[in-house]
Amino acid sequence: MDILAAVTPAQSEDFSVETIQIDDPRPGEVRVKVIATGMCHTDLVVRDQYLPVPLPAVLGHEAAGIVDAVGVGVQKLKPGDHVVMTFDSCHQCPGCHEGDTVYCDDFLGVNLLSAARPDGTTTLSRNGEVIHSNFFQQSSFATYAMGTEESVIKVPKDVDLEILGPLGCGIQTGAGAVMNSLAPEAGSTIAVFGAGSVGLSAIMAARVVGCSKIIAVDLMPGRLEMAKELGATHTLSPEDGDVVEAILSITGGSGVNYSLEATAISTVFRQAVDCLALRGVCGLIGLPPAGTEVTLDMVHLLLGRTVRGIVEGDSKPDTFIPKLIELYRQGRFPFDKLISFYDLKDINQAAHDSETGVVIKPILRMPH
Ligand SMILES: NC(=O)c1ccc[n+]([C@@H]2O[C@H](COP(=O)([O-])OP(=O)(O)OC[C@H]3O[C@@H](n4cnc5c(N)ncnc54)[C@H](O)[C@@H]3O)[C@@H](O)[C@H]2O)c1
Ligand SMILES: [Zn+2]
Ligand SMILES: [Zn+2]
Repeated sequence: MDILAAVTPAQSEDFSVETIQIDDPRPGEVRVKVIATGMCHTDLVVRDQYLPVPLPAVLGHEAAGIVDAVGVGVQKLKPGDHVVMTFDSCHQCPGCHEGDTVYCDDFLGVNLLSAARPDGTTTLSRNGEVIHSNFFQQSSFATYAMGTEESVIKVPKDVDLEILGPLGCGIQTGAGAVMNSLAPEAGSTIAVFGAGSVGLSAIMAARVVGCSKIIAVDLMPGRLEMAKELGATHTLSPEDGDVVEAILSITGGSGVNYSLEATAISTVFRQAVDCLALRGVCGLIGLPPAGTEVTLDMVHLLLGRTVRGIVEGDSKPDTFIPKLIELYRQGRFPFDKLISFYDLKDINQAAHDSETGVVIKPILRMPH
């Protein structure tokens, strides 16, 4: 079937919106008519080939839409269901068997590096030529996208579908890092480094779980303002002085119980560890270029502090995404404040505005 898609032709080149073809769903697959897709920093990291995803490919991995057709054997979904698309996993490794699919042995292979079905075929083509597909089991910078029964999540029909796509990656990542991974007890303190869509989602979640001090750190004044609106009790810019000292001062000299690194900058990661109280936990979310290293003070860490990596906020999407939607409905998780809409044809402008910090979470509306 012909679809309109934004193809990434080669490293760091502009997205090219053109007509290509998508397959009919095979067993276990679910084809979705995409209504709107969020743009995540990871799409741009891959466009620029800091991670070696084969090109030409269709990227995009924060889609919301309506099920168009399902393959043989699919039971969870039927045509007409409203859905959010998210990641998948191999279903065969210990992490998958134990329900921790974000720590699948082949998470990067399935979602990024293979850019194809498990058998090596692609769901997309351009007049017979291979177009790499299955990016996060979506490739959803397009009017239609192919997911799997596991990666497509049913959502209620009474919520505006256009805003829901980012729940499938950036927003569940930030919120889940707090609500699932760190799970701060009410009254505890947290510092969030990086107030992009991931960090701001973490800040909203920190308010939901009842953190008493929520410290946002970012360079951009507009994002710090947004952080305050969403629940930050304190905001800090590295341009105004030593961030670690400021956090120690805000917490009476002890440091924060929890911190999150959501900038992907190694020196910021170091600050996120240095500002921890004894027994504090730092969650690492930022995705830097492969091979990036960091130095830490061993004695500081030895005194009971923990550093842990977090993938997709430890989300179990079938239950976590509906939970976030319910919190949104109650006005306790107003993630719509992060969103700016663009038409698919303006995808390069959206990428530019995201990279320059003009917008926090661009969402591309698909023409239908
Ligand atoms: N681990 C995962 O599963 C996962 C999932 C989604 C996204 N990510 C990654 O999370 C990171 C954040 O994503 P995002 O969409 O929010 O990105 P973003 O670029 O919108 O946000 C990053 C923020 O960091 C700020 N920043 C830059 N330098 C800083 C400094 N020195 N101190 C403090 N703040 C600084 C920027 O101003 C920006 O607001 C990215 O690296 C992304 O690839 C990881
Ligand atoms: Zn697995
Ligand atoms: Zn993402």
